[in-house]
Amino acid sequence: MKRLSAQEIRDSFKSYFAERGHLVFPSASLVPHDDPTLLWINAGMAPLKPYFDGREIPERARIVSVQKCIRTNDIENVGYTARHQTMFEMLGNFSFGDYFKRDAIRWAWGYLTEVLELEPERLYATVHHEDQEAYDIWHQEIGLPKERIVLGDEDNFWEIGEGPCGPCSEIYYDRGREFGCGSPDCKPGCDCDRFLEIWNLVFTQFNKEPDGSYTPLPKKNIDTGMGLERIASVLQGVPNNFETDLFRPIIAEAERVAGVPYGVDAGRDVHFKIIADHLRTVVFAVGDGVLPGNEGRSYIIRRLLRRAVRSGRKLGVERPFLHELAPAVAEAMGVEYPEVAEKLEFIQRVVRTEEERFLETLSEGEALLQETLERLAAQGDRVLSGQDAFRLYDTFGFPIDLTEEIAREHGISVDRDGFQRALDAQRERARAARQTAEGMNSERGVLETLTVESRFVGYDQLVTDSRVIALVQGTDAVEAVGEGEEADLLLDVTPFYAESGGQLADRGRIVGDGVEAEVLDVKKAPHGQHLHHVRVVRGRLTAGQAVRAQVDEAWRKDVIKNHTATHLLHKALREVLGDHVAQAGSLVADTRLRFDFSHFGPLTREELAEVERRVNDAIWRDEVVEIFETDLEDAKAMGAMALFGEKYGKRVRVVKAGEYSIELCGGCHVPRTGVIGLFQIVSETGIGSGVRRIEAVTGRWAYQYVREREALIERVADLYKVPAGELVNRVERALEETRQLERELESAKARLSRGVAAQLAEQVQDVGGIPVVAAIVPDTDMDGLRIIVDELGDRLPSHVVVLGTAGGGKVQLVAAVSKDLQQRKLHAGQIVKQVAQLTGGGGGGRPDLAQAGGRDADKLPGAIAKVAEIVRQGAGILPTEAK
Ligand code: ALA
Repeated sequence: MKRLSAQEIRDSFKSYFAERGHLVFPSASLVPHDDPTLLWINAGMAPLKPYFDGREIPERARIVSVQKCIRTNDIENVGYTARHQTMFEMLGNFSFGDYFKRDAIRWAWGYLTEVLELEPERLYATVHHEDQEAYDIWHQEIGLPKERIVLGDEDNFWEIGEGPCGPCSEIYYDRGREFGCGSPDCKPGCDCDRFLEIWNLVFTQFNKEPDGSYTPLPKKNIDTGMGLERIASVLQGVPNNFETDLFRPIIAEAERVAGVPYGVDAGRDVHFKIIADHLRTVVFAVGDGVLPGNEGRSYIIRRLLRRAVRSGRKLGVERPFLHELAPAVAEAMGVEYPEVAEKLEFIQRVVRTEEERFLETLSEGEALLQETLERLAAQGDRVLSGQDAFRLYDTFGFPIDLTEEIAREHGISVDRDGFQRALDAQRERARAARQTAEGMNSERGVLETLTVESRFVGYDQLVTDSRVIALVQGTDAVEAVGEGEEADLLLDVTPFYAESGGQLADRGRIVGDGVEAEVLDVKKAPHGQHLHHVRVVRGRLTAGQAVRAQVDEAWRKDVIKNHTATHLLHKALREVLGDHVAQAGSLVADTRLRFDFSHFGPLTREELAEVERRVNDAIWRDEVVEIFETDLEDAKAMGAMALFGEKYGKRVRVVKAGEYSIELCGGCHVPRTGVIGLFQIVSETGIGSGVRRIEAVTGRWAYQYVREREALIERVADLYKVPAGELVNRVERALEETRQLERELESAKARLSRGVAAQLAEQVQDVGGIPVVAAIVPDTDMDGLRIIVDELGDRLPSHVVVLGTAGGGKVQLVAAVSKDLQQRKLHAGQIVKQVAQLTGGGGGGRPDLAQAGGRDADKLPGAIAKVAEIVRQGAGILPTEAK
């Protein structure tokens, strides 16, 4: 067995498969691109799903990659076991309709035994019990003895949610009897530490559909995955993944910061492992543009970071420290993932801010939780309510699992369902419409097999003379399509842009002899041709027919203004806000553009104005827009911004707007920036944690936007009857006048109330010796009633006052009871409640002062007339005592 570093393993794996015809793919972002079924890239095959299900055809049928992955189903186990992690790397080789089981097995065996020099005697294989073919290859061709082939059932079928899946064959490494449980049944798959699953070979031949059924894939594929950390632990001879060179340097930094050693106390080691694992995941995810927050991916990052902070506290570190360990992550992982080192400063800032925020609320929340738990324990209660848990989550940022962990330490469980209900209710309120993207679709029918060439010339031409080379309805090829019908078609040459990179597809017409069709949409077919979705508006369209394809020129001219402006905006945002601004999505339409990007919080008015100014400056400098092809490496060296989810290929298309912006892009652009004319930001909003959205308009739409604003100002100026230039002065004056009138109104009301109070003080009833004022005051409101009650209080030291007023069909009531009478069991809250009930309402309050509302104004006089009776009963006075 060779002793190899993690980087040596990655490199040897890639070269072994490159030598066998595989194209080396760099790791894709952890954030899935165009795949709503996944929260994270969670396997080497995940970014390649479109190749598996036939939506796209890869450049080569064999690919090899080392892919960063996140799986978060077992967060609670991390630290407590030898191998649970949230982020891991998967070494994988893939075949798309090329080689199948035989080569997959032979090469896996070859790599393990010849390159890594693992002893063949220590290797075992599992196969699906119905997979005779795989069994025979292992046994007859590789020569693996029967005792080392284990048959399995569902463990030998691999799937993650919807998408490609199939039977699989796993390879296990026998670490030796001394790691075993000693049971005679101990074999690969046993829970003990002896047999370690190192590689999974999936023979992908099905697609799991959204309804749970399995459809055979058009072509058989190979998907394999070997966990880098596991194989590193074997080759480096260490007992768990955390002691490989992937984690150990991070733990070493944590030891330094905490001032306590790893490896001495198992309880303490748990926290070192949690810190190392969680921090790595956070660093990588932030590097890929995910910021901590309260939803989805962002919430997972927040939760991991908070668990790591808490582990730090268990090791005695009370200050923010995780950001100090981030360079160790970059150091340990940087050769394979230079993006982490490149963005280190930003990552550290994000981590630090989040740590500080959490520490602030943590102590407060912990104190509250502690108190609640003690109270529950004292009451003999063993369950913390969902509401309490939710409050901790909502107000103090306590992840539910953290609450659970702390509660568990007190022997108390958490009402998880109740928590979920409270959370759902909150999320429901906050839920933003989630974009539904197209799911996996393996029903492409005839399009799968259409490999005819279709040339796209739409960068330079908007009209072409073309021929219909394929006509498809549903999944079948057809010869002709009649008037009123819809169909998909390919042209030998097309000027129509297919929707991609945020730029909408071109609209336009396809016209032939006696026939005319409207182009409703254009998408890319599996083999990359532009597929036009059309409706025949006149005549009959036939396969093979000569036609003229015409892009709607006005549409395209509007779209390209928005596309180039999007690039200028991206650049301006990075200049004004910083390099952490990363594109998170965009929409380039005819009437507007939309740009989503990562940033901490709302932009200030000044920042927005500055961004807008810079974009317009670039427009007015009238920069030449150059478009050319080059190698990805060259483009990067020129400083091109490679967009999120960019597919790596050898040649890339670069769009360069003068000296200002340079991006990789496949879209359509203006020849010079001056053509854009004008750029106006229309709105800036948040669309999830750490992601902002700017909507903007250009050209004639910007002019229209400005025109509408102008009209608005003119209308307001007309209302105030001043020229627009004097509007601000005029509005300021109007506001001042309003304030003045409000003040005058207030004092008039107070004067009035005093007058009313003086009158009412003359109308005191004597109820068994208790002075009672009960009256209806017209034309006032609750504030007015309160003032009168105060005034009456000053005039009558001993009193029960009940005042009511009716207006707008509603009744408002106030009651007051002086101190001496409260001692006679008279309670303002109870009195007002009884009176309110007589008017069909309710309310209550303190013993001295209370207010209430009623619904039935007609009943108010009757209710007020009952006050004396209510007071009498309240004070326990017999009717005879009253006069
Ligand atoms: N996709 C397979 C896995 O993750 C190889 O195990």
